[in-house]
Amino acid sequence: MTDYQRTYQDWKSDPESFWAKAAGCLDWHTPFDRAREGNRWFPGGRLNTCYNALDRHVLHGRAEQTALIYDSPLDRKQEKFSYVQLLERVARLAGKLRELGVEKGDRVLIYMPMVPETLMAMLACARLGAIHSVVFGGFASQELAARIRDARPRLILTASCGLEPRRVVEYQPLLERALESSIPVMVLERAQCGWHFREGQHPWSDSEPVEAVPVRATDPLYILYTSGTTGIPKGIVRDHGGHAVALQWSMENVYNVRPGEVFWAASDMGWAVGHSYIVYGALLHGCTTLLHEGKPVGTPDAGEFWRVIEEHEVVTLFTAPTAFRAIKKEDPDGSYLKERNLARFRALFLAGERLDPDTYQWARQLLQVPVVDHWWQTETGWPVAATCLGLGEAPTVPGSPGKAVPGYEVEILDEQGRPLPAGQEGAVALKLPLPPGNSPTLWNQDQKYREVYLDPFPGYYNTGDGGYLAEDGHLFIMGRLDDVIIVAGHNLSTGSLEEALAGHPAVAECAVFAVKDDFKGQLPVGMVVLKAGCTDTPELHQQLIQRVRDGVGAIANFKEVLVVQRLPKTRSGKILRAALRKLADGVDFPTPPTIEDASVIDELRELLSYRRR
Ligand code: COA
Ligand code: AMP
Repeated sequence: MTDYQRTYQDWKSDPESFWAKAAGCLDWHTPFDRAREGNRWFPGGRLNTCYNALDRHVLHGRAEQTALIYDSPLDRKQEKFSYVQLLERVARLAGKLRELGVEKGDRVLIYMPMVPETLMAMLACARLGAIHSVVFGGFASQELAARIRDARPRLILTASCGLEPRRVVEYQPLLERALESSIPVMVLERAQCGWHFREGQHPWSDSEPVEAVPVRATDPLYILYTSGTTGIPKGIVRDHGGHAVALQWSMENVYNVRPGEVFWAASDMGWAVGHSYIVYGALLHGCTTLLHEGKPVGTPDAGEFWRVIEEHEVVTLFTAPTAFRAIKKEDPDGSYLKERNLARFRALFLAGERLDPDTYQWARQLLQVPVVDHWWQTETGWPVAATCLGLGEAPTVPGSPGKAVPGYEVEILDEQGRPLPAGQEGAVALKLPLPPGNSPTLWNQDQKYREVYLDPFPGYYNTGDGGYLAEDGHLFIMGRLDDVIIVAGHNLSTGSLEEALAGHPAVAECAVFAVKDDFKGQLPVGMVVLKAGCTDTPELHQQLIQRVRDGVGAIANFKEVLVVQRLPKTRSGKILRAALRKLADGVDFPTPPTIEDASVIDELRELLSYRRR
């Protein structure tokens, strides 16, 4: 038996004892009564995630070790913070938040770029037992407003701007358009752009340091919104106890990283990867985490990742396949790598979207280290399927994100929820109960959580992905089964994009669907039906594209709109987006039996034929 098989068996034979043992690596203020009750982990236990991520390491010999490296080619800055310095900054910021009225259980919305203060703000909230909700800086007003409306924060933390390679993104107009009522704001002013302070808005500052507040293991640490099938984002809730246990376990057993080593998650703190592995996982495990404000290409060139790895002695990098496709496109021979010494670098982990075999092989040959495709979601918070390098496994099957990680039992189900045999494609589901770290519910929406995730297949959590399992347990993911689209590793809802289009006065109805793209994986395309009397002009196209950019954000990469006479719909009025996707990608499919008028399919096939030429 391999280490992986033995650990998987250990977990399966007694999941509660397995996770109770893993929980022993944290400092608990009050021990938990039992490992699990329903879908809640470690009830009765009290701890603080910030204490475990910072104070614990300072007390146990890591005070002078670098906790955080900030490297910003966009701001031409580098800074390092030891554990004791980071603790001091976070404790003082927590003091300021308390002065501004933030207490345990309050929500604090963080709309900030990739700067150290963002990480500090997250930990400062955790220190107080306040619940942070970080909104990705690439989202514009409509998305920001939806999150403010749902989280109802007591305070908003923001910065004057984010930095993109060719522009400065000013946050003040975006935030002001999103605010529907007056909420206090604290603003980090950056050198590139100022802020016009209004009543109730404070410049960034700190105060007297405060101690960590012990909270229940089951109390929420954060809310992170993810795209749903509608325009209303789903507030994923993460607890303190289960989350800390699962992340620390994964750092060692999945990522094979040791305390004291440099771990780099090249993502954004606004995404689940950033929460779990730039901030919490790396620090809980006593690693040095790297915060990079830049891109894989263009800041300044396709050698940026290799520079960072060499300069900061990174052992493991985690990013999205798109980042590697971008480097491959600009520097297919890997010439920038030749100037670098990556002696310490041990592994590359990729997730967030499908890893195409070409990119896998290219990265593998270039880097000569294991390239690990792994699969998870915002909801799970940590990997469901992976090659567990820390348990002695090595990736062997290109195209597969590996096998179930201990803690998870992955099954493929048919439409009636019956398990399918190996090789057959169906809905990817996870047997309940889920391990620690998984979202136990949606913020303010217990019923919706049940409807979306639990009701479709009783006894299972429905991931929303389609795929199959091979005989030897390797999982293959074929893509989303719902209307979520994944653009450059960013999860977006077609509903949000449609909401932005539908607000245009000329639009009677619309649909947004995804088409395949070699670089960004998928790209959104919009189809609109105009109101009587409105005409299709280039200006109209420009206005529609701009609406999505201003509402959802440039990150949607929305650049294509088609004006049509009618949309394909079922007899009950539901738009057949899957049919649109297949028509655009040139995939043959039987005419859906529920379609209202089958002739629309031929009409649209003809219209979309330009995409296949
Ligand atoms: N704030 C404001 N705007 C942002 C932004 C942010 N945080 N992030 C991206 N944008 C903007 C970009 O500037 C770009 O604007 P433009 O249309 O004016 O050029 C637009 O959104 C599209 O961005 P993106 O799709 O990222 O394309 P890109 O060409 O700028 O960069 C990559 C391409 C591959 C370099 C980039 O997508 C990348 O690094 N991807 C990795 C994905 C990742 O980190 N995923 C997280 C999960 S692991
Ligand atoms: P997010 O919640 O933004 O992390 O997106 C999760 C979704 O991204 C999953 O449900 C999958 O559809 C997709 N995804 C994540 N990792 C992979 C992977 N390794 N291979 C294929 N798809 C992936």
